[in-house]
Amino acid sequence: MEIIPRPLKIIKKNGVNHINRSLNLRFNNQNLKFTVNHLHQELEKFYQFHITYNSADQELNYIEFCLENTGQGSEGYILEIGSGFIKIAAEKPAGIFYAVQTLLQIMLQKKVPGSNEINLNCCRIEDRPRFSWRGMHLDVSRHFFGIDFIKRYLDLLALHKLNRFHWHLTDDNGWRIEIKKYPLLTEICSWRKDLEHIPWNQRAESNVPGKGVYGGFYSQKDIRNIVEYAAERFIEVIPEIEMPGHSSEVFAAYPEFSCQGKKLTVASGGLRSNPHNFCPGKDETLKFLQDILTEVIELFPSRYIHLGGDEVNKTIWKECPHCQQRIRKENLRDETELQGWFANRIAAFLNSKGRNVIVWDEVIAATSKIAATVMCWRGDGVGAAQKAASARLNAIMCPNNTLYFDWKQNPGDKGAFGVTSLQDVYNYEPVPDLFSAEESKHILGAQGNVWTEWMADKDRVEYMILPRMTALAEVVWSDIENRNFADFSHRLQDFKQILRQENYNFNQR
Ligand code: ACM
Ligand code: ZN
Repeated sequence: MEIIPRPLKIIKKNGVNHINRSLNLRFNNQNLKFTVNHLHQELEKFYQFHITYNSADQELNYIEFCLENTGQGSEGYILEIGSGFIKIAAEKPAGIFYAVQTLLQIMLQKKVPGSNEINLNCCRIEDRPRFSWRGMHLDVSRHFFGIDFIKRYLDLLALHKLNRFHWHLTDDNGWRIEIKKYPLLTEICSWRKDLEHIPWNQRAESNVPGKGVYGGFYSQKDIRNIVEYAAERFIEVIPEIEMPGHSSEVFAAYPEFSCQGKKLTVASGGLRSNPHNFCPGKDETLKFLQDILTEVIELFPSRYIHLGGDEVNKTIWKECPHCQQRIRKENLRDETELQGWFANRIAAFLNSKGRNVIVWDEVIAATSKIAATVMCWRGDGVGAAQKAASARLNAIMCPNNTLYFDWKQNPGDKGAFGVTSLQDVYNYEPVPDLFSAEESKHILGAQGNVWTEWMADKDRVEYMILPRMTALAEVVWSDIENRNFADFSHRLQDFKQILRQENYNFNQR
């Protein structure tokens, strides 16, 4: 059976199941309605079936969906293909959804052009994921992607049994989320001068004259729509609001929350050395950010909110009287501790609202006292993971040297920075070598990051992530003993058939 990610256990049985037009779908729990419908719609895209529901007297050619005790955990499932029937069982609706993904893979890969019957070998599959955090990130600041593409991206996550979408909504090159209290964030900070004809790293960073015309944003209605679409597919959407760095776009409209109070333009590109941060010395800055986060948590039911915290160039803080006064008043050693103080303040605010906080790993370097989950991205991420585990904090692995899908897939390709091949991704192991069993419990899983400086449109994004995210899916789902690159490469040939049928633009090599 050519399934990606590879299931825990496949037990082959004798016999063949002939599925034909008059397929009957049986379920007894309304929570499964979306998933059952999803299977129905996917099958209808490719077969002229006449599907009916809940006809208990149909003795053959049915699929039964059961919520019951399976011993496979909250995301696991058992899929049994018998002769004449298919049974899907899981403890939770998420498990049923993943079983349907497996079944669809089998059914769509077996498609014979012109045929309206599917022949499946009988078997029993027992399956559950290795990690709870199986994610993909998308940067929508460097280039904006509309909600149709975000849905397509979520479809891809679902196809790969990934369950976390990290939505990088704000950065120097555009603010992308409507905040009712501060309308200029989207009237002004979402738009930049169109310099798309110039390579990203050759664009001037600031003070480019001319009206902002290039960009876009998600209305609160759009966000609710996406969160609901994701939830139907058992994907948690984690919004990221970057602070205190990677935030200069805000100062195109609200310069009073920076140190110098100087109005900037939204940068159309350029290198990442921007020193224009939020000023943590001013109480008003904290108030502004708390107001924004108050609207963010209304929109996102996620357990986690991501606060950024990476690559903070602190040169202006050194000269800012507000920042220096804060350092003295709070008895901090330096600007790094000031970042730690700031992160702790914002985290405490979110914790008080019942939310967990995620930060990039620079924050744990600035303060080990923070109550947060750490995203380990620099280098191999191991040092940061070690630091997190020592502080009894959880970590999510997204090392730039392996899981940054803006990096090239092959040495000759276009792309940012280094090279991370399909095989590099496949061979990635989220739990660091020397971790004890106790430390390993702090590794929640891993995710692929997709920074879009060099990806201006959806086709480019798809090309850069596919099939590397397919390899990642197996890293985070499948048991380590079941991972084998040659075997994966073989199964990938069939998986590509599905990518082709769904018109994804993947790297064909
Ligand atoms: C990052 O790549 N700056 C988190
Ligand atoms: Zn300041």
